[in-house]
Amino acid sequence: MKMDTRIIILCCLVSFASAAVKLQELYSWNVLDWNYPDPYSKQLALQTGALIPENALPVGIERWRNKLFVSVPRWRAGIPATLNYIPLDAPYEPSPKLNPYPSYEANELGNCQTGLNTVYRIKADKCDRLWVLDVGTYGYDPNVTNLCPYALNVYDLNTDQRIRRYVFRPEDIVSTTFIANIALDEGSSCEDTFAYFSDELGYGLIAYSWQQNKSWRFTHGFFMPDPLVGDFNIAGLNFQWSSEGIFGITTSPIGPDGYRTLYFSPLTSNTEFAVSTRILRDERKVTGSYRDFYVVGPRGANTHTTAKVMDETGVQLFSLIDQNAIGCWNSALPHKPQNIALADKDDVGLIFPSDVKIDEIRNVWVMSDRMPVFLESDLDYSDINFRIYTAPLKQLLAGTVCEPTAPVVKINPTINDNLIAQQPIYGSAIGLVSNANQVFLPGVGASTAPPTFPAFGILPENNNIPRTSSYINFSNQRSLPFVPGDPIRTGTSNRWPIRGRYQVSENVQ
Ligand SMILES: *[C@@H]1O[C@H](CO)[C@@H](O)[C@H](O)[C@H]1NC(C)=O
Ligand SMILES: *[C@@H]1O[C@H](CO)[C@@H](O)[C@H](O)[C@H]1NC(C)=O
Ligand SMILES: *[C@@H]1O[C@H](CO)[C@@H](O)[C@H](O)[C@H]1NC(C)=O
Repeated sequence: MKMDTRIIILCCLVSFASAAVKLQELYSWNVLDWNYPDPYSKQLALQTGALIPENALPVGIERWRNKLFVSVPRWRAGIPATLNYIPLDAPYEPSPKLNPYPSYEANELGNCQTGLNTVYRIKADKCDRLWVLDVGTYGYDPNVTNLCPYALNVYDLNTDQRIRRYVFRPEDIVSTTFIANIALDEGSSCEDTFAYFSDELGYGLIAYSWQQNKSWRFTHGFFMPDPLVGDFNIAGLNFQWSSEGIFGITTSPIGPDGYRTLYFSPLTSNTEFAVSTRILRDERKVTGSYRDFYVVGPRGANTHTTAKVMDETGVQLFSLIDQNAIGCWNSALPHKPQNIALADKDDVGLIFPSDVKIDEIRNVWVMSDRMPVFLESDLDYSDINFRIYTAPLKQLLAGTVCEPTAPVVKINPTINDNLIAQQPIYGSAIGLVSNANQVFLPGVGASTAPPTFPAFGILPENNNIPRTSSYINFSNQRSLPFVPGDPIRTGTSNRWPIRGRYQVSENVQ
């Protein structure tokens, strides 16, 4: 009897260890699919090979109000759109089909003027613009074709119009350039915005000024891979990525000197580096600024990362691809392994977390996609391969060394306190309590009418950017109160992982 109990506990601890505890799975797919205007055009796309669902791998995500953007690189044939979205206010489906953004036409392969070829990670800003780099490629190493030049495309999210296209200068790129990450440096106005792009295989960092409509390129030894940590073990595969340099990048909140810090890590590295955006914003600093780049600290063993994001309190989240986890670091603490924590881990669901974002109301979004299996082997399409998770940041940090100790410094006084205060109701509100047959997002309780947003242009004097939630109609939300220890309810679906904790107590009783 005693033995039985022990075995049960052991087995359940194992299952507990492999289920995301804090992140909640919102969407999952065995294979991606797309919405078409009518069944005939979809049939045609399937017949002509314009749509080959099993060739699609989602990589980047971003949430802006009622849209969840999903990028799908055109590494193989049959990807009808590289930039897509899921409407968060549509009736909930566990595996929603993707919609092209802004349209199929605007995603046309090989159309360098008005199309998009391959898009990786994307970023929305507080001026309701979506920043998208089209790397112009079709195919994957060694079968890559450069159909179009690297071009930054910026969309006005309120009108779904592209408001800028900027082609990188030839000097910004080298023959090996591969850019998959973007960070934004939002200043005092919408005009005063810079974007940074990490060149993983060309070992460079490209800065772009919205105001000047101009770009320049930094190089530095810290952009190089660490030759000692080029061996990867992910999803049961062993492979070597030994030449991958600067990859995950994010900006900090604005510091006392009025500048943000850009944090960066090469993919083949366990070390965090940084540089002030005071340097990056200044084209003249592309030379003579070697010592302005600095080592922030080590993360510890097996901490390769592909994506990172920092919130306005200075807490950084990053993917930990070797550990099937999302890591965190509170930048108020020294950057060393003791101060790095796993915010969440799931040895099934979080295999290759490819992107992590924090939205305007401090919900975290994570995409996982088993990318190494797709690239180095074959995905099993009878299994779930792609997942999107979400959780309030506060919940993700709870109980970790990353939890803010000091009161949150309010960078922006217009953040709706009520929204943040309501976040602890996540236990029930997360995702799927869907009486109105809509997805309700965590941290959004009774909301006032949607505010008006400045499309873009100069912001009000005091940087009073209205930060809200979204256009989702929350008034008909009837979520049940969160009871500590309750299993998270599964809504209409039973695909959530069995939570080991509950199994243990059932069996022991
Ligand atoms: C590259 O293309 C060739 C010819 O189409 C094909 O045989 C080969 O499998 C491709 N290689 C990869 C890695 O996709
Ligand atoms: C920005 O630069 C691009 C060149 O890549 C040019 O085509 C475009 O017209 C410029 N836009 C503005 C607003 O100056
Ligand atoms: C939100 O939904 C409620 C109940 O369905 C409705 O009465 C109200 O008009 C809606 N509000 C908006 C802004 O659509």
